[in-house]
Amino acid sequence: MPEKTFYITTPIYYPSDRLHVGHSYTTVAADAMARFKRLTGYDVWFLTGTDEHGQKIQRSADAAGKDPQLFVDEIVDWIKQLWAALDISYNDFIRTTEPRHRKAVQNIFSRLYEQGDIYKGRYEGLYCTPCESFWTARQVEDGNCPDCGRPVEMVSEEGYFFRMSRYAPRLLKHIQENPQFIQPPSRKNEMINNFLEPGLEDLCVSRSTFDWGIPIPFAPGNVVYVWLDALSNYITALGYTSADETLMHKYWPADVHLMAKEIVRFHTIYWPIFLMALGLPLPKQVFGHGWLILQEGKMSKSQGNVVDPMVLMERYGSDSLRYFLLREIPFGADGVFSNESMLQRINTDLANDLGNLQSRTVTMVERYFEGQLPQPDSKEEEMDRELKELALATSARIEEFMDKLQFSGALEELWMLVRRSNKYIDENTPWALAKDKGKRDRLGTVLYNLCESLRFIGVLLLPYMPHTPQRIWRQLGMEHLPQLQSWESLNRWGMLEPGTRIERTEDLFPRLDIDKELKVLFGDTRKEEESQKEKKDSSAEKPGIIDIEDFASLDIRVGEILDAEPVPKADKLLKMTVDLGKEQRQIIAGIAQFYKPQELVGKKALFVANLKPAKIRGLLSEGMVMAATDSEGRVALTGVDKDFPPGSKIS
Ligand code: ME8
Repeated sequence: MPEKTFYITTPIYYPSDRLHVGHSYTTVAADAMARFKRLTGYDVWFLTGTDEHGQKIQRSADAAGKDPQLFVDEIVDWIKQLWAALDISYNDFIRTTEPRHRKAVQNIFSRLYEQGDIYKGRYEGLYCTPCESFWTARQVEDGNCPDCGRPVEMVSEEGYFFRMSRYAPRLLKHIQENPQFIQPPSRKNEMINNFLEPGLEDLCVSRSTFDWGIPIPFAPGNVVYVWLDALSNYITALGYTSADETLMHKYWPADVHLMAKEIVRFHTIYWPIFLMALGLPLPKQVFGHGWLILQEGKMSKSQGNVVDPMVLMERYGSDSLRYFLLREIPFGADGVFSNESMLQRINTDLANDLGNLQSRTVTMVERYFEGQLPQPDSKEEEMDRELKELALATSARIEEFMDKLQFSGALEELWMLVRRSNKYIDENTPWALAKDKGKRDRLGTVLYNLCESLRFIGVLLLPYMPHTPQRIWRQLGMEHLPQLQSWESLNRWGMLEPGTRIERTEDLFPRLDIDKELKVLFGDTRKEEESQKEKKDSSAEKPGIIDIEDFASLDIRVGEILDAEPVPKADKLLKMTVDLGKEQRQIIAGIAQFYKPQELVGKKALFVANLKPAKIRGLLSEGMVMAATDSEGRVALTGVDKDFPPGSKIS
């Protein structure tokens, strides 16, 4: 059987000194797709790179007082570091300043000239330098570029033109006959109505007013128009026109070119026409996703609202950032990026749903079976069947979403399995089974099924969060068993070997304090934190370690609960009157699910006495009871081991 191949590309990015989370969005999506296809048996080629020529880059280099090549070299190093931090598994990174690309573009240009697709003429018209694009008077809006809104410039120069009109009818037909070619479909109508139907004008494909570009071999003083240069990367990287065209034969045409909507025009009009002229097949799909938007508009450096992916990854890890980008916004639509929604997703989906499932499961195997995976018994109950059937069906459902590049739908399917597994714990209450000797087999079956479900979840997560599966599997004792980690292994339930060592080594996603994180992200406490960190680093202390003074600032005392009653319409809260020695206080605590009011009366516990008073459900709370929470979420009050009087201080 011939090998199934899959070729996916991102745009090649302009080297700006900081790519923001918007650029990461496309790259993470392409990476998830590449990983998914590899996992499902495809031979994948994933290309990204940088678009380094043109007047815009030349001007930026001049402004920085640097030679353009040196200027781009430094930035490209940084971009590669960013992609490494985000675990981008590209197969090739092409730079348009590389000889392999320059040579091939010169070959392409000469060939198009020789066969009469490119001719010499004079260009007089409007040009947007930031976008490197030509516009007609009809297209500009009040003298501004219709894409970025910045002023266009009048340019007049001799140049070389591409006969777009020659191929326009063929392109229109192709677009109409191949509904998959431009996705999502709304972008297709835009291309037809705004560009193709009004008629294509010939395109100026050379520039002579600056020299930071690929020289046109037969026309000294002219360089290749940056979009012809840039678009060609998708084939020059495969060795087109070089001595070795193996990759070209293997992977071209591309399965999907991925990008945001503003450059779909270049990819669905210019690019297919260049390819037609070269006699090459067209890419199977051009997918234009939406923009990540901050309140102020499309996120970009010039608008001053950049969110730095490096900062986000340093704090929350690359898997969390990747998960959020892929899960939050349906791919194709615009979506608002906010730090708050990211933090909330980390807490709900990752810490609560996935993290708790893992820690509860593994802790119970440790506690009830000394960390050895129990043998499931052969009796299958309805809920076992449900869990198993859902797990077995999830991979096919995810595949359907992925074939349409619907990352968020795919993750939603995956989370149905995560949530079903959590519900399975609640339905089976393993802690209750553990109390009954006669239910030991049942307890073993429940915990086995949970571990197996986590194995499935790990495999399914691989394309989106490359690190998390290993962390799950390590605790399940299967990190070195590739046969349990493959896509095919999802066709069989029950592959984990009973007796395997199960070990809780870490929490996958600790809960975040959202208010604190937001302050840090918005820069309020950034400097403060940094100086604190420096102080700590200089005294060679570990993160999370506090000084004795930090501890001394807490006033912890023994208190006696004199009275306790439920808080109306709040089933978790109790209102207590507490004797703290010299005074009585009202303290509200979220312990109603674990203690009945009458059980508490007369009990002594530890209280934080100098906590700032707060209103909880309209009731004043002057202090906090100290309690321990276990991995199953149960709560127990703390105390001292002798009968000490109220007010005794802890130090
Ligand atoms: O256009 N939301 O490069 P570029 C979503 N060099 N995606 C965003 C985004 C945002 N706020 N901001 C950027 C170029 N992107 C050309 C491409 S290809 C032959 C040449 C992503 O550095 C998105 O994919 O301006 C967009 O299309 C791309 O970055 C533009 O990157």
